[in-house]
Amino acid sequence: GKYRVVSTKSMPGTRWIRLLTNNDCRLEICTEQKTILSVDDILALIGDRCDGVIGQLTEDWGDVLFSALKRAGGTAFSNMAVGYNNVDVEAANRNGIAVGNTPGVLTETTAELAASLTLSAARRIVEADQFMRAGLYDGWLPHLFVGNLLKGQTVGVIGAGRIGSAYARMMIEGFKMNLIYYDLYQATRLEKFVTAYGQFLKANGEEPVTWKRAATMEDVLREADVISLHPVLDKTTYHLINPERLAIMKKDAVLVNASRGPVIDEVALVEHLKANPMFRVGLDVFEDEPYMKPGLADMKNAVVVPHIASASKWTREGMATLTALNVLGKIKGYPVWGNPNQVEPFLEENSTPPR
Ligand code: GLV
Ligand code: GLV
Repeated sequence: GKYRVVSTKSMPGTRWIRLLTNNDCRLEICTEQKTILSVDDILALIGDRCDGVIGQLTEDWGDVLFSALKRAGGTAFSNMAVGYNNVDVEAANRNGIAVGNTPGVLTETTAELAASLTLSAARRIVEADQFMRAGLYDGWLPHLFVGNLLKGQTVGVIGAGRIGSAYARMMIEGFKMNLIYYDLYQATRLEKFVTAYGQFLKANGEEPVTWKRAATMEDVLREADVISLHPVLDKTTYHLINPERLAIMKKDAVLVNASRGPVIDEVALVEHLKANPMFRVGLDVFEDEPYMKPGLADMKNAVVVPHIASASKWTREGMATLTALNVLGKIKGYPVWGNPNQVEPFLEENSTPPR
């Protein structure tokens, strides 16, 4: 191959491999066994000749790596993720390197995981499962693992972009929840869907669902029974959920986060979970992955999973394929492909909490 492309991890499927190797690339997949590669590990992989890199969200892609990639003759980097808070896009662009991400293919898979966390937290599935396995079940009881009914309650979505909107639709269509959302942008298609679905329910003699676009995030936190967080992580959304905002939420609310850990002040969340046993959370992401803040693992009112929101076979193969297209489009300069999912740096002045 004319071009040397490095992938810092092995990824699902084979299409991404064929795309690269059938298009003049020599692909090197890192075989290092440790889960998270350091900047030094990646510097060694880049070496002195490298045209493009496929990297992971656990890696710190800043000036050190991008200037090394530039010196190695590289022009392309793709993150295998839709989120790219681990990438300093300005530093990449300064070094003449285009950055790609993998939107679209993970929307429904991620929304389904957020929905799973919602149901697991609302109906105490994990707690009940542990109870069964511990041999504690000694007969049906009226009080045993009583949780929350979703039907007719209000789902609050913070960040109604692709994933937030898909999640909202699932909860509205599946459980006939009413919607309140907060986003800097109007989620027009989502609003139209809720209106049409409400009319359909009404025509069938059922209670219609409703929607409301909240003027402030606080309105969502105060009014919703279930709140799911789907913002981009940047400076404006760091610790979006803080002690003050936890305090205004309903005492028996369900809070779900399948976006990025630092969106929640996790220490404050642990305190809140301790003080409010009816308050439940479903978490896919954590502030200091792979770690949890002290005490979180002991909270029965928390469901925790290890950042698996995009983990369906179809989606992970799709993400891998998109990373290959991103890198190829740039290094071969294909007029049609271009760099299909090129991302821009977040700009301070038009920074977008929810998208
Ligand atoms: C996963 O967390 C992603 O951003 O794709
Ligand atoms: C519960 O199992 C019931 O039959 O009400």
